[in-house]
Amino acid sequence: MQRVLVTGANGQIGSELVAALRERAGVEHVVGADLRPPPGAPAGNGSATASGPHEVLDVRDRAALERAMREHHVDTVFHLASLLSASGEEAPDRAWDVNTNGLKHVLDLARACGENEGRRDGADHSVRVFWPSSIAAFGPATGTPAPQQAVLDPQTMYGVTKVSGEFLCRYYHQKYGVDVRGLRYPGLVSHAAPPGGGTTDYAVEMCRAAAEERSYTCFLEPATRLPMMYMPDALRATLDLMDAPAEALTARTSYNVGALSFTAAELAEALAARAPGGFDCRYEPDPERQQIADSWPATVDDQPARDDWGWQPQYDLGALADDMIGHLQAGFKSKVEG
Ligand SMILES: NC(=O)c1ccc[n+]([C@@H]2O[C@H](COP(=O)([O-])OP(=O)(O)OC[C@H]3O[C@@H](n4cnc5c(N)ncnc54)[C@H](O)[C@@H]3O)[C@@H](O)[C@H]2O)c1
Repeated sequence: MQRVLVTGANGQIGSELVAALRERAGVEHVVGADLRPPPGAPAGNGSATASGPHEVLDVRDRAALERAMREHHVDTVFHLASLLSASGEEAPDRAWDVNTNGLKHVLDLARACGENEGRRDGADHSVRVFWPSSIAAFGPATGTPAPQQAVLDPQTMYGVTKVSGEFLCRYYHQKYGVDVRGLRYPGLVSHAAPPGGGTTDYAVEMCRAAAEERSYTCFLEPATRLPMMYMPDALRATLDLMDAPAEALTARTSYNVGALSFTAAELAEALAARAPGGFDCRYEPDPERQQIADSWPATVDDQPARDDWGWQPQYDLGALADDMIGHLQAGFKSKVEG
């Protein structure tokens, strides 16, 4: 039976990935880890919270990570703990430390656990790793659509950590045989947990404002077009990649995965068509985040992901807007009424 550790478990992706993995593998087989207990859980370390096992740890602390992996007999790590693009620019030293050293600890432990376990009984107990890269690995020299074998040209410390992370993953695979797999996620849109300081956070904020019948001031220009994806597609891509046979995989840096490519104005229009009273969206671009967005490609070429492990997105912009508005309006109504 699989025993899984998800770092960054309280985040936008982690909170939904933990739930999806627990549905597949059983609650006790999926351990969350983050700097804090999950929202709503009592403080403390190693607590089996109401929702399932969770470790309070910092991924920069290798010993704490090792303890969690050994105590829970972990054979798969989804390593999501990270600072994102906008928060990384506010704290570049911390972004380097968390993103790069955290990943190196996970890869070293995956390698060490595999070697130690393998020596004991000769069986293959190597620890598998999922680690997400990002479209932030691209930059002005990359071009649109960004190819799989792209010129990586990051303009942020976050992007620098993604590029170095991609090559670190490939190195550990080639040199030590660690089964590490990755995706270059586009900007993710979801209604469950709030986004954590990225340049595409505007999309979630815009959906929330439209559902709550509020106006919204967008921090990007209306014509800014970026690769985006709805969370159910991102979760499916993650799980499908990890389910794929190792011999089918041709990319050990990270796979491009495309889904949507919309401008801020196109999202606002889709939301206005679904909000009963219309939707008032204004634009006051924030120079720093606009500059980051302008450095990224508008679309990606994801043919290798389609060929190697059958990647196929399911949500277009209309389906995303319908689902987001439906969930956010229901949540807003129950908050107002309760
Ligand atoms: N959300 C997106 O649009 C997006 C796009 C591309 C790539 N990604 C990547 O996916 C991964 C998860 O992103 P997310 O959107 O869920 O991020 P998030 O900011 O919502 O969550 C990150 C989590 O990591 C935790 N964390 C931060 N520092 C830590 C540390 N030192 N030790 C332990 N935990 C720590 C935070 O508390 C937080 O809960 C990241 O690697 C990110 O770069 C996300």
